Amino acid sequence: MERLTIETTPIDGQKPGTSGLRKKTKVFMQTHYLENFVQAIFDGIGGADGKTLVLGGDGRYFGDRAAQVILRMAAANGAARVIVGQGALMSTPAASNLIRKRGTDGGIILSASHNPGGPDEDFGVKFNGPNGGPASEEVTGRIFEATTKLSAYRILEAQDADLSNIGEQTLGDMIVEVVDPVADYAALMEELFDFDAIRALIDGGFRLCFDAMHAVTGPYAKAILEGKLGASEGSVINAVPKPDFGGGHPDPNPVWAKELVDIMGGVNAPDFGAASDGDGDRNMIMGPGMYVAPSDSLAVLAANADLAPAYVKGLAGVARSMPTSQAVDVVADAKGLDCYETPTGWKFFGNLLDDGRITLCGEESAGTGSDHVREKDGLWAVLLWLNILAVKKQGVVELMQAHWADYGRNFYSRHDFEGIETEKAEALMGDLRARLDDLPGKTVAGRSIEAADEFDYHDPVDGSIAKRQGLRVYLDNGGRIVLRLSGTGTSGATLRVYLEDRSEDPATFDRDVQDALGEVIEAAHQIARIEHHTGRTEPDVRA
Ligand code: G1P
Ligand code: ZN
Repeated sequence: MERLTIETTPIDGQKPGTSGLRKKTKVFMQTHYLENFVQAIFDGIGGADGKTLVLGGDGRYFGDRAAQVILRMAAANGAARVIVGQGALMSTPAASNLIRKRGTDGGIILSASHNPGGPDEDFGVKFNGPNGGPASEEVTGRIFEATTKLSAYRILEAQDADLSNIGEQTLGDMIVEVVDPVADYAALMEELFDFDAIRALIDGGFRLCFDAMHAVTGPYAKAILEGKLGASEGSVINAVPKPDFGGGHPDPNPVWAKELVDIMGGVNAPDFGAASDGDGDRNMIMGPGMYVAPSDSLAVLAANADLAPAYVKGLAGVARSMPTSQAVDVVADAKGLDCYETPTGWKFFGNLLDDGRITLCGEESAGTGSDHVREKDGLWAVLLWLNILAVKKQGVVELMQAHWADYGRNFYSRHDFEGIETEKAEALMGDLRARLDDLPGKTVAGRSIEAADEFDYHDPVDGSIAKRQGLRVYLDNGGRIVLRLSGTGTSGATLRVYLEDRSEDPATFDRDVQDALGEVIEAAHQIARIEHHTGRTEPDVRA
C-alpha cells in the first residue's frame, strides 16, 4: 500500500464554527475539501503520528465515504490505531465516552447534528480532544490556521476497510478496530442510574415513547430502553438510522418531532415522551400534553439529580450557556451551588468539568449533560429524568408544577430569524452594540431597562477570554433579552433572539409562553430595530 502525498492549496472558509466545520454535503464532496480539513486537524493537533483516535458519525449521507477517507489519511499520517463504530456509526456522547474510557488522543465525529442530511443538505466534521470534549478554542484556532497554510495532504492508496464486522484489521501499519458503538455507552448508563428503579416503574405500567428521528440514537435507545429497562417493543419509534433521516430535520423540538408531539398530545398518551437529534447529544422531554422547555429541564435535573446513584453526593456546581434561561440559577441559589454562565457551545463547559467545578450543565438548545462525558448527552438526560420520576413517583406534569411552585417560573422562548443577509444581520448587531450604554433607564413596551452589555467570557480555569458572545438587555422583574448570531448555519445568517420573563405567581404558571412573553418580545423588536434592519416582523422559528 502506497503512502501518497497529494499537492493541494488552502481552501477558503474552513473555519470551524460553534461545533466543528459544517457545510453543504456537496461542498464537502468537492475535490480535496474533506482531505484538506482532515489534514488540518492532524496538523493542528501536532500530527497523528503514533496516535490513537476514535471515529464515528451519525449515519448521515456521505459519512461512510468520509470515514474511509479519514482512515486512509490517518494511516498515511502515521496513526497507530483508530477505533471505529460498526458501520461508521457512533453517537457524539458515545464517542466522547470511548475517547475517555480508552484514553485516546481524541476523535473525529462526522455529523452536522440536528441539520438535515443528504446530497443537498448538510455534513460536518468535528474534532474532540483527549478529554472527550469538543476541541478547545485554542486547538480550533490551530486547526483553522492549518487550513490556511496547507500545501499537501497524506493518504494511503488502499481498499476500503471493512466496517461491517466487529474486530481488528490493519490498514498499512495502522490498526482499525471496529467496535459495537452501543456497548460501552450502555454500560456507562447502567453505572450512573438506578436501572432497577426505572425497570420497576416501567413494570408498574409506566409507558414511554422515544423518537429517535431516524438518527443515531435508534440502536442505543432500543438496547437500553427496550432491551435493558423493559419498555415494550415499539416504545422507540423511527429507530433505524437513515442517511437522510427520513427526509426530516433530526432536531428534537416540537416542530420537527411532530410525530412524538402528536402522540403525547393524543388520547391515551404515554406517561413520558422524549426525542434526540441526529448525533444523539440533544434531547426533548415531554409529559402527556406537556412540552418541557430545555432550560426548565436543566433546572429540574439540577434540583433532583441527587436522586440518581451517580449524583447522590450532590453536585459540585452547575453551568448554563449565557442565553439559557436563569431557571437553573434559582435552583443553584436555593441549594448553595456555584452557577457559571458560559458562551454558547459545549466546548466552554469542558474546563469547568475537567476542573471539577461543575457536575451538571446545559443549554437552551436542548442540550444537557454532566461530568460523565464531555459532550451533551440526549439519552443520559432521558435516563436521569426516568430515574427521578421513578424515585419521586411523580408524573412529568406533576413534577413541573411542583418545581415551579418551589422555585417560580422563568418563561422562555427563542425566536430565530433565518436566512438573513449576513451584512444586514451584522448591521443590526453593530447598531445595538453602539446603543447599549444608552439603554439603561429607558422604558420600552412598558418595561424599564435595568442594564445592557455585551457578554465577554473570562474562563476561570485557564484565564482565556472569549469576546463578543452576545448582547444582553436586562429588564425589570427578571425580564431579559439576548441577541446573537448563530455559528452553526451553512448559508446566510440566523439571528437568535432569546426571551425570558419571570413570575412567582402560581396563577400565571399555566399561561401560554408566547403570551406571557408578550412585553419582552415587543421590547426586543423595538430595542433591536429588527424590522428596520431585516424587514422581518415575525421569526421563522419559535423554540
Ligand atoms: C447552536 C446552539 C448551541 C449549540 C450548537 C451545537 O449553535 O445554539 O447552543 O451548542 O448549536 O449544537 P448556534 O447555531 O446558536 O451557534
Ligand atoms: Zn447534536
